[in-house]
Amino acid sequence: MCFLLVLNKMWPKFARALLPFYWYLTLLYGIPFFFTFMLFKNNLSTPWLMNTITVLFLLMLLTEWISFFVLLVFGIFIGWLAYDLTTLKPISLAHRTITHFDVIGTYTVSIIMGLIFLHNRNQALKEKYQLLKTVQILKEKHQLLKTLAGNIAHDLRTPLASISFTATFLKKYLAMLVKSYKSAKEAELIEKEIPRGDLPDIETSADNIMHQTRFSNTFIDMMLNNLKGEEELKHTSNKKCDISEVVSEYFHRYPFSIGERELVHWEKKNNFEFIGSKLMMINVLNNLTSNAIYAIKEVSKGEIFIWFEKTERYNKLHFKDTAKGAPPEIAERLFESFFTRKSCGTGLGLASCKRILTSINGDIKVRSKEREYMEFILEFPHIRK
Ligand SMILES: Nc1ncnc2c1ncn2[C@@H]1O[C@H](COP(=O)(O)OP(=O)(O)OP(=O)(O)O)[C@@H](O)[C@H]1O
Ligand SMILES: [Mg+2]
Repeated sequence: MCFLLVLNKMWPKFARALLPFYWYLTLLYGIPFFFTFMLFKNNLSTPWLMNTITVLFLLMLLTEWISFFVLLVFGIFIGWLAYDLTTLKPISLAHRTITHFDVIGTYTVSIIMGLIFLHNRNQALKEKYQLLKTVQILKEKHQLLKTLAGNIAHDLRTPLASISFTATFLKKYLAMLVKSYKSAKEAELIEKEIPRGDLPDIETSADNIMHQTRFSNTFIDMMLNNLKGEEELKHTSNKKCDISEVVSEYFHRYPFSIGERELVHWEKKNNFEFIGSKLMMINVLNNLTSNAIYAIKEVSKGEIFIWFEKTERYNKLHFKDTAKGAPPEIAERLFESFFTRKSCGTGLGLASCKRILTSINGDIKVRSKEREYMEFILEFPHIRK
């Protein structure tokens, strides 16, 4: 019966519908029926009693408690019946110390123990199922966001490129136009004047537009990179990179608004190299900066400090802001996907930073004090010579 069960993949289609029924039939025959029958046939001998108890546990492992009870009661009944029908002499307990009462007692205790075990197992299975369900939901959410982000990025990039091109063109002639306007005004050739205060804004408008398009493009890149999964990151080409070059390029690329760049201080000592992707590491710094600047704006205080450290196990990059920090119960959840405390945040930024660093066998850790500071420590493994 068991052999047929093992070959179930080879069963014809119509027979496969009967698989659950066959499964219970095999259990019924193979465990409670067979062992009760043999137990009686062997005059309730100790080895058979031990065997029976062991297989009862196996039955508990293989079924849930309702099926267990049904199979048990029915199996014992037909096992007993089969014994009665095939045996004339009664069970002989002569020369043995064991009684019927002992057998029933042993059965009952083992069933109770088994039920406790079964209850715990069901609880553990339920928890495991819940966890799997949550992971599945997170994966689906992730996939959905990825598709959405891909479409949004695609739809936005084209108009952004066109706006940026127009702004570059405008910048080329704007200074000249403003200069001409001023000369015309001096020569009293202007009919309708531009208000005096608006002139500087007009002069910087092309730069502003270019800044905003750069800002939008950076955030689109960040969004797309943040949605990269572990598999994708593993396939990113990793090379030897210089951490100072990464930080310099990040400074060059990050679309700081007016006054923001001055808030970031970088101590260049202890430079090191690591194996990884420069672009991905810039993405990490972008995420940390956008979070830190958001926090600084929220509490209207704080600065950002970046420095390197060399230790025996790792080379480290510290990224600390002195804005608002976070209490321990929040700090320990920062790297969870979709954990956000912003009305329009995705909660993917720090989770992505974690993925990027673990993909190169490094890590990112956080140290924080509420209302004082938030410090992220990026750990890079040493390059093996
Ligand atoms: N420097 C910081 N200071 C205080 N809180 C922070 C800091 N960095 C992150 N956090 C908190 O951690 C949360 C998670 O950050 P994460 O970057 O993962 O997502 P997010 O910033 O909310 O969303 P997104 O990155 O999509 O904008 C933030 O919502 C914020 O509450
Ligand atoms: Mg963020």
